[in-house]
Amino acid sequence: MTTRVALITGGTGGIGSAIVKRMADNGHRVATNYRNEEKAREWQAQMKQVGYDIALAKGDVSTPEEAEAMVREVERQLGPVDILVNNAGITRDATFHKMSSQQWNEVINTNLNSVFNVTRPVIEGMRARRWGRVIQISSINGQKGQYGQANYAAAKAGMHGFTISLAQENAKFGITVNTVSPGYIGTDMVMAVPEEVRNKIVAQIPTGRLGSPDEIAYAVAFFIPDEASWITGANLSANGGQYMGW
Ligand code: CAA
Repeated sequence: MTTRVALITGGTGGIGSAIVKRMADNGHRVATNYRNEEKAREWQAQMKQVGYDIALAKGDVSTPEEAEAMVREVERQLGPVDILVNNAGITRDATFHKMSSQQWNEVINTNLNSVFNVTRPVIEGMRARRWGRVIQISSINGQKGQYGQANYAAAKAGMHGFTISLAQENAKFGITVNTVSPGYIGTDMVMAVPEEVRNKIVAQIPTGRLGSPDEIAYAVAFFIPDEASWITGANLSANGGQYMGW
């Protein structure tokens, strides 16, 4: 398989770390961004101990200037970005009638505006080189909505709107653009949901359990090889059967 440069935003997180490892296992050179240098260097050292050499670039994806600087730093360290996984995301759950504009804006900026901020500086290079993969990590809750997540569901649904437009614009340039929509995965983000609420959610999952980050990384990797060149604008659900849209 051809070695590519892969940038996974939010790669130090639960799902992100699994995607980073799988991309490296598949022979790619991998980078991620960070906001907190100390924590990121600790993560990088832990990855190194288990055999992964991952490049780090500073940058908050919610800010256009920082995102662009982050992309340029990745290019400086590894070369042009061939594979971009827009994975960075946060929650600020609250019922809408109690939601502050700060909770709304933080989620829209980090989960949706980030997709513009990071993809914009990489897309021209992909078009010029006539090969690219752009993958959005959305959510089951962007597909079905979720009580307490008007901000998050709006951002996650928006990510797929972005996917299907960018897919059309770039199909002729050897670039595929797809979405993976994870269900509830056993990460810190999901474990932060109050236990009682979480147990009710797990009871609605036909597989009877939370997903694992590796199960999402597998779905992301599916879109990368040249054999997947015909698959663009797709939204791949990986949710244990909790929501079966078509
Ligand atoms: N359906 C119907 N009613 C619901 C409900 C639901 N799914 N969830 C909560 N309610 C009801 C409660 O029963 C309660 O009703 P009563 O007042 O009649 O008793 C009421 O809503 C509580 O509302 P409040 O505004 O007082 O809310 P709260 O401050 O207690 O917190 C919440 C509400 C923030 C939504 C909390 O229930 C929560 O955290 N829910 C989980 C949300 C969730 O699934 N987040 C996903 C995080 S993980 C993730 O996002 C990853 C991913 O992509 C899947």
